This record gives sequence, structure tokens and C-alpha cells, in this order.
Amino acid sequence: VAPLKVGIAGLGTVGAEVVRLIETQARVLAGRSGRGIRVVAVTARSKAKKRGVDLRGVEWARDPMALATHPEVDCFVELMGGAGDPALSAVEAALAAGKSVVTANKALLAKHGIKLAKAAETHGGALNFEAAVGAAIPVIKTLREGLAGTGISRVYGILNGTCNYILTRMEQEGLSFAECLKDAQRLGYAEADPSFDVDGHDTAQKLAILASLAFGTKVAQSAVYVEGISSIAPEDLRAAADLGYRVKLLGVAVRTAKGIEQRVHPTMVPKSSSIAQVMGVTNAVTIDGEGIPPITLVGPGAGGAATASAVVADIADVARGIRANPFGRPIAQLHDTKKAPMERH
Ligand code: HSE
Repeated sequence: VAPLKVGIAGLGTVGAEVVRLIETQARVLAGRSGRGIRVVAVTARSKAKKRGVDLRGVEWARDPMALATHPEVDCFVELMGGAGDPALSAVEAALAAGKSVVTANKALLAKHGIKLAKAAETHGGALNFEAAVGAAIPVIKTLREGLAGTGISRVYGILNGTCNYILTRMEQEGLSFAECLKDAQRLGYAEADPSFDVDGHDTAQKLAILASLAFGTKVAQSAVYVEGISSIAPEDLRAAADLGYRVKLLGVAVRTAKGIEQRVHPTMVPKSSSIAQVMGVTNAVTIDGEGIPPITLVGPGAGGAATASAVVADIADVARGIRANPFGRPIAQLHDTKKAPMERH
């Protein structure tokens, strides 16, 4: 069988690690997929940057669009980020050409996910985005393919590694917000614009994606109430601790009689609760099913290696010929997102 030919747009922390994994894990991946996976072309802002990966024999495409429509590329991997162009047009072009797309871009999916899923449906390519939520944690697959037949009443958790890392270090070491954020950036956890992390938008984007999969609604970031952590000081965390609580930035999507309520805000959780034990860059997602006890998935939520592992797993699915409905069901079956009125809990 011919190898799957991959084109990668974006060679930052995640992109470079994807190239490295495809090379070093070639045998494992071929075993899993039944065929080889080969990176044939790439594109990135800087060609000269040192990335510590071997790109000999790999073509440099002129720009993301040229890569997305490259006749040799079967699977377009979008790791540039951003809800608009160049990511949007390039992904649309790849899907229109019938190619499969793998992306880690939660901003793009939260804004244009339905349009893109429709294009994938029409032209037959896969649209895989396991890395967009919870990095290495297989939460998309769990909701999309693992819980068929179970009604879901609530999905919630810690979805932003940067915020949880900041809150953990502020609480444990009494460091300032700014110092902790700087470290999160240095470690490669934060977004290019870290206000997306600390203002809660990154969590909102991920929650909107999870809610769509859990409830069969059309993904819509605009339906999420958002409040971030930037005004939290070490004293606030100490005050919460004195009362027996920790502060966590939670994303919560819950089915109510009036629709699906989606909200993101700092929340006081009892220190003895399992969610309070989730520290550092770790993410945790709990799915409350109807008729089964809750399922909680916990693991590394950010960082190059954790995110790349999910991207490569998605590529392996494409190589294997697996093609799930991007949001778990045909687009025609997804409901409009009715924003439930917010209630204070
Ligand atoms: N900036 C994100 C986070 C990266 O900190 O969780 C992973 O999506």
C-alpha cells in the first residue's frame, strides 16, 4: 500500500514534534495504520529557524494555500492556529480538494467548525481535531466514538493548561500572576497571544467543541459565557484555601430544561474534591452520563509533546482510512445552539 503523504503547515513547538514523531515512530505507526506515513511538504513562517528535526527531502511549499492544494498531499495538517486566515482558507481549500485535514486549531473549529465539517462531509475527507482539546487526552474520540447510546447530561472540567499551571504555582509558591504566566510561556503551554488563555477564551473554544459532541448542537463559541483569571491574586487563593477551597478555571456545559448552558469562570472547588487535585498543566474532563457513573479523563493538557501525540494519532486514523463524522453525527442532524439563560450556581 502506498504511504499516506502528509503536508504540515506550521512548524512551531507542536509542528516540529509531529515531524519528529512521524520519523522516530515510523514502525509503530505503520503497524497501527497498515501503511507508512511520510511528510512530503511543509510550510512555516521561517525556513531558517533551528528546529532539531530532519527536513531533508521534504519540499517547502510557498505558503499554506499552496501546501493545502499540493497535488502530492493526501492529508493536510494545520498547526498554525488562529480562527481566520491563513488557516481558514487553507483548510477549506484542502477539504474542497477532497483531502483529509488534521488540525489542533480550537479557535478555528469553535468559529467555523460546522462550515468545515460540512465541507468534509460533502467532499469525503476526514476532519480530525483530537489535539484541539485536552492535548494528549483522547477526549474527542471518547465523546465522538466511545459513548454512543449514552445520553450526556453534563461535560465539564479544566481545559486550559496555562491557567491551571498559573493557579497552581500562585497557590503553592505565592508567586505573582505575571511570573507564573511568563513560565507558562517559556514552557510552551501558552497561546501566541496568552490573553486567550488567561481571559478564558481558549477554555470557551474547547468547551464549545465538547458541548457540540456531547449534545449534538452546532459548535458556537458565541454561546459561551466567559470570565478569566487575570484579576486573581495570590491573596484570593489564600482566602479560598482558608475556607477549604481551591480556585480552578472551569468550563461547564450542562443540559437544562431551557437549552444547553455553557460557561467558563473561576470556581471555588472543595479541596477534597477530585478536580481540586488536578495540578499544573494537567487537564481533566468529566462526562456525566445518563444511567452510568461519571467518566473522568485526566492528562497533560498543553505542550509540544502532548499535543503532537494527538495530532499523530489523528494522522494514523487517516492513514488507516477511518473517517468519523467530525462532530459525531451528520451535520443535518445537529441542532441549533440555543443559548440557555445563565443562572448563578
Ligand atoms: N494554551 C493552551 C493551554 C494550549 O494552555 O491549554 C493547549 O490547547
